[in-house]
Amino acid sequence: MAREFEIPQFYLSSEIAQIKKRRNSEDPKKKDLTPTLLDLGRIRFRIARHFGFCFGVQNAIEIAYKALDENPGRRIFLLSEMIHNPHVNEDLISRGVKFLRTTEGEQLIPLESLKSDDVVIVPAFGTTLELFAALSQQGINPYKYNTTCPFVEKVWTRAEQLGVKGYSIVVHGKLNHEETKATVSHANAKAPTIVIRDLEMAHLLGQYIKQELPPDSFYQDFKGRFSEGFDPLRDLQRIGVVNQTTMLATETWEIAEILKKASLEKYGEINIGNHFADTRDTLCYATSENQRSVVGMLESGGDIAIIVGGYNSSNTSHLVELCEHKVPSFHIKDAAEILDINKIRHFDYKNSVVSETANWFPKSKPVVDILITAGASCPDALVDQVLKKVAQITEVEEQLNSAITSVN
Ligand code: F3S
Repeated sequence: MAREFEIPQFYLSSEIAQIKKRRNSEDPKKKDLTPTLLDLGRIRFRIARHFGFCFGVQNAIEIAYKALDENPGRRIFLLSEMIHNPHVNEDLISRGVKFLRTTEGEQLIPLESLKSDDVVIVPAFGTTLELFAALSQQGINPYKYNTTCPFVEKVWTRAEQLGVKGYSIVVHGKLNHEETKATVSHANAKAPTIVIRDLEMAHLLGQYIKQELPPDSFYQDFKGRFSEGFDPLRDLQRIGVVNQTTMLATETWEIAEILKKASLEKYGEINIGNHFADTRDTLCYATSENQRSVVGMLESGGDIAIIVGGYNSSNTSHLVELCEHKVPSFHIKDAAEILDINKIRHFDYKNSVVSETANWFPKSKPVVDILITAGASCPDALVDQVLKKVAQITEVEEQLNSAITSVN
């Protein structure tokens, strides 16, 4: 049975819980990835089979609120955002928690100002070995309220094991994401490490694996992405690939294939095991299930998609990426961004800007199919509020209530 976490009630929604419970009881192994249909007549919501708080986020929230309960009167800090959801972070701040750094890594409070009776919460993405050591030096036990997701730790272990076997580590991830920084730190303790972002970089790295480009240009092409002392001639002879856990699964697989092919071309089929460690992928279950559910949801057809989640949430941005290939898609952080039936405010992750779109809702259609999903750090309560807001502006609130009741 899945572990139950203690999550504050205000993050939950009895309606969404009802929908999830019904789907899970009918299909515990999540083989059926068709969305849940809520037919309200004029509106049909098609809600992804899997979305919202993952294991790691629930675990982090439980530990963070426990830290607050257990330490009245003490100063409590988070290394940076605990998860990438503004509502969760703002609630923790309102209870007195302070952030030591921004998500981008800017130091807000000097580490030297921490005292041994302060409490420091390590976020779900984990942190670098250097920061663990710096906190210990201040007399703080960084492992007491360590919310690092076990699936992130699994990647660190995998990277370390590969390093011990003499493979260099290629991390598929976003260079400035907290999790990638942490993974690089752990991997680099055992092996030369390089971070690549996308297919284009994978093709370029493939050329260096095949030694088709001069080693000197490697340092320019991958500036800021490789560990100290990295030697492309030596360190690309044996590689293993691990991921930031929330990357786009299809991209991850393609990257591994591109690098494997380059190693095959350089060293031949018979030697491939010595040069390319078959890691499969190190994406976590939630990333994989959320993305597969979005594919299932898109196959069911839809007019528009609403994806709920923090703007800086990596896993949410990949759900948006999948949706926008098929339908007009709107990444919103909460229901308040649905300004009215004519206008929606949403995040454009490609340009990193918040925009407003007029005529987002296809009013002329007699029946509108709306696809709904949410990132792994998004509380169900926010998804519930989005359903209610759409029902309110399209005047189908009563139908929503009876559709949810009939799900049970
Ligand atoms: Fe962990 Fe995956 Fe969630 S790595 S924090 S279970 S998205």
